[in-house]
Amino acid sequence: MSINPFTPSFGSSPALLAGRDMIIRNIVGGLQNGHGDPNRVVIFSGPRGSGKTVLLSEIANKADQFGWITANVTTMDGMLDDILDQVKENGRKLLSGKGRSHITGVNAAGFGFTRTVDAEEKVGWRTQMTRLIKELNENNIGLLITVDEANVAVSELRVLVATFQHFVREKRDVALLMAGLPGKISTILNDDVISFLRRAFQYKLGLVDFAEVRLAMKKTIEISERDIEKKALDLAVEKTGGFPFLIQLIGYHIWNQSPNRKRISFKDVEDGVELAKLDMYSMIMETTVKGLSKTDRKFLLAMAEDDGESVMSDIAKRLGVTQNYASQYRLRLIEQGVIESVDVGAVAFSLPMLKDFLLERYA
Ligand SMILES: Nc1ncnc2c1ncn2[C@@H]1O[C@H](COP(=O)(O)OP(=O)(O)O)[C@@H](O)[C@H]1O
Ligand SMILES: [Mg+2]
Repeated sequence: MSINPFTPSFGSSPALLAGRDMIIRNIVGGLQNGHGDPNRVVIFSGPRGSGKTVLLSEIANKADQFGWITANVTTMDGMLDDILDQVKENGRKLLSGKGRSHITGVNAAGFGFTRTVDAEEKVGWRTQMTRLIKELNENNIGLLITVDEANVAVSELRVLVATFQHFVREKRDVALLMAGLPGKISTILNDDVISFLRRAFQYKLGLVDFAEVRLAMKKTIEISERDIEKKALDLAVEKTGGFPFLIQLIGYHIWNQSPNRKRISFKDVEDGVELAKLDMYSMIMETTVKGLSKTDRKFLLAMAEDDGESVMSDIAKRLGVTQNYASQYRLRLIEQGVIESVDVGAVAFSLPMLKDFLLERYA
């Protein structure tokens, strides 16, 4: 019996990252290209479970591999110090560890101006960072900062962005990757103090193509020395709806149905999907729906009456409100990442299983 290769927990990098090749290629290309490349200031937005955190990790790993240093933080008080510490720590390792004998003027022990704590406290964050980045850049080493759970309410995030803007202007080899929930990102983009970010490249992490999901699930199963019936795989893929977290949840549960048999059967998938659904409800849906207002929920329930997409004028009628009023809720829900506009005047759920969840729990 081999170990279950699926990783259904937040922030756990999957064995195979489905459908994100192009984004990774663009950003890694941007890092390898010179300063000024638009893929050096990037924002990921997507609902819980869309794979923001693991994508940040994946790109940070790639950056490490070609010799950049990275500082990876979650948005909260203390993040600036954390970045500084990571830059010093990782920079020191890189400058000393690789035996870069051609480097002159850099004494690994001296990197980061850590001679005395006293001297350090007298200079501000920007000055310290500038010195470190200069030193790294002089050795052809760039710096990537990744920021997860971006939230403009945390003042240190504003300081980071405002300062980063100077690094860009000074043409330093730096990059900033930020990730957050759609609503949080749109608040950030509307903030005048850090309007610089409006020029950032934005990637909306949406659903992954079924073909990519299929490949990832199949390979994940095969590298762990089992296989899956074709029809069973078709069903599993369809049930993910392309939602990244569901790839792991469904994979995990279908694997566990008969871990001692080599082949995963159709029945395993049917049973596994039911368990995955319960986890999806408690890990994603409950938190997501709790964050919505009563009217938001009524809007979603009005949508749930339709089979496919919903026409806005129908929604307004069902809610007994004007179209204008309904469209304000439409915008709010798009910002929360739970629905999306599909046609002119039409919307659809953007999270698989959300409709079932609402009908089962709230109808
Ligand atoms: N592209 C992907 N392919 C397969 N699994 C993924 C992918 N992206 C994320 N996952 C899985 O989905 C779950 C949630 O990912 P995470 O990055 O924590 O989401 P977020 O930060 O957006 O809430 C994890 O179990 C992770 O392994
Ligand atoms: Mg996350």
